[in-house]
Amino acid sequence: MNYKLINLKVFGDERGHLISFQKDNNCPFDIKRSFYIFDTKPGVVRGSHANKHSQFLLIAINGSCKIKIDNGSGKIENIILNDPHKALWIDKMIWKEMYDFSYNAILLVLTNTLYDENEYIRNYEEYKNIIQGDNERTN
Ligand code: TYD
Repeated sequence: MNYKLINLKVFGDERGHLISFQKDNNCPFDIKRSFYIFDTKPGVVRGSHANKHSQFLLIAINGSCKIKIDNGSGKIENIILNDPHKALWIDKMIWKEMYDFSYNAILLVLTNTLYDENEYIRNYEEYKNIIQGDNERTN
């Protein structure tokens, strides 16, 4: 499964804490874009897509949420993010859903691409077909 929970390197001293991200320092890719998700309403599921080129690093910098990750070949994991010292790296071509946001959740997202709607696969059946095709070609 192409995901990894990363324990972030923290600069901490008597003043408090600071966590920084750059390629090969708390983040495995070159960062081209960042955004954060906040004020998410109860019961909402965000995401529900796979990306052809984007890798993501997700950090719950406040509150908590859950991430469902699905590799399209039957492997599904549900991860809780509730600690700003940890980041979840998700590779490209992984189906993901974000849900169960706490009322105060702020989810920071870093990625290696500029925004391009054309690299989004938003239909699960289409995603499964692409993965199945890839698997058949490599077997
Ligand atoms: P959307 O993909 O629905 O967010 P999520 O995956 O969290 O459910 O994006 C919501 C809107 O924001 C949509 O109109 C596209 C826009 N958007 C950008 O313009 N740039 C970005 O980097 C992102 C992530 C979204």
